[in-house]
Amino acid sequence: MLRHFLRDDDVSPAEQKAILDLADALKADPLGNKTLAGKSITAIFEKNSTRTRFSFEVGISQLGGHPVIVDGRSMQLGREETIEDTSRVLSRYVDGIVWRTFAQKRIETMASAASIPVVNALTDEFHPCQVLTDLMTIRERKGELAGLTLVYLGDGANNMAHSLLLGGITAGMHVRVVSPLGFQPDQQVMVDAKKRGEETGGTATAFTDPYEAVSGADVLVTDTWTSMGQENDGLDRVGPFRALQVNAELLKKAADDAIVLHCLPAHRGWEITDEVIDGPASAVWDEAENRLHAQKALLVWLFEESRR
Ligand code: CP
Ligand code: NVA
Repeated sequence: MLRHFLRDDDVSPAEQKAILDLADALKADPLGNKTLAGKSITAIFEKNSTRTRFSFEVGISQLGGHPVIVDGRSMQLGREETIEDTSRVLSRYVDGIVWRTFAQKRIETMASAASIPVVNALTDEFHPCQVLTDLMTIRERKGELAGLTLVYLGDGANNMAHSLLLGGITAGMHVRVVSPLGFQPDQQVMVDAKKRGEETGGTATAFTDPYEAVSGADVLVTDTWTSMGQENDGLDRVGPFRALQVNAELLKKAADDAIVLHCLPAHRGWEITDEVIDGPASAVWDEAENRLHAQKALLVWLFEESRR
């Protein structure tokens, strides 16, 4: 059956675990799997990218495939060719579509017209490849995911907050989102996350006080206060967020062995201090590396499932 990965709950808890197990195996033997031999995968970017672009290009090539990396703004898509027509045409040339775009609706439209797997490489609403990677990184450090408490501090309505809610709860984690009033998670995402939690034991809770939220936490995650595309939205994205900075004082309130993640790019001195991102609790460089392994695992898994 044709499978896509548009949001974190597109995979079941067991499927998510299978992808993470495969990611660990691929990390141990990076050139040992050639599932994409003879296949071409396109990765299209309508927003800037460093990690996603490099990790997909290298990962596809390590799996024996041919990456076709394109700036979406240079495509006819940028001149009013429809998403559906683009999808139908790409389905005749390549074997998979990875897309970084704006509204989630756009990637849903792409998937609805595609006859090949479509992967979300970040939309305004979700960043599921990043969260698969974050789960892989947490599991490397902690050995397990279920039952851990993860606190996300920042814009609770952005792609990272939503994906951590859905992906973390799929893994059975307790996910706390701390955000200023007016920047809280989408209500439907909270509902969907809680529903998944009935299956896994994971929970979703919204907070406004960072000290209360991080108390005893196992994992702290932060992200930019201003996501791509929000630069001119007219909202004050500094004043209300200052109290959420991940700094040494806040980190002290978490568990003694707490780790810190940031999907990057970081705005040092704003959402995270140099002391924390460069300090012993930081797992951000492993996290960045793991994009490569987690996405390779996702592609292998999607192609195997789509062949069934
Ligand atoms: N974390 C992440 O997606 O980074 P890029 O924007 O550099 O791809
Ligand atoms: N929330 C950020 C994530 C960047 C990887 C953004 O959308 O810009």
